Amino acid sequence: TFVVTEACVQCKYTDCVSVCPVECFHEGPNFLVIDPDTCIDCGVCVPECPIGAIYDEADLPPDQLAFIDINARLAAEWPVIVAAGEPLPEAERWAAITDKRALIEN
Ligand code: SF4
Ligand code: F3S
Repeated sequence: TFVVTEACVQCKYTDCVSVCPVECFHEGPNFLVIDPDTCIDCGVCVPECPIGAIYDEADLPPDQLAFIDINARLAAEWPVIVAAGEPLPEAERWAAITDKRALIEN
């Protein structure tokens, strides 16, 4: 399955959403996740993210492994998002910040 990682937090560019063939993205206030039960492993979302936040589970950087569980847990709580929208207002600034998982809003 594919996994949205920490880079997405506070950015939420949503370009990934417009290419997913199976509607597996779920949206929270400042982060997006992939439902691992819906993802068909097509990989087309990966190059769409302008900040490289999406990885194949098998290729996750070691410091992002917690996001496997975070995606599964939040996908069960958050609604599906089917259309791309505007990034969060300060996305550009937050894109340069790496340590921000504690900021995920629920
Ligand atoms: Fe959707 Fe394919 Fe990305 Fe999975 S890998 S989230 S199916 S676009
Ligand atoms: Fe997040 Fe990148 Fe999609 S920032 S919303 S994973 S395009």
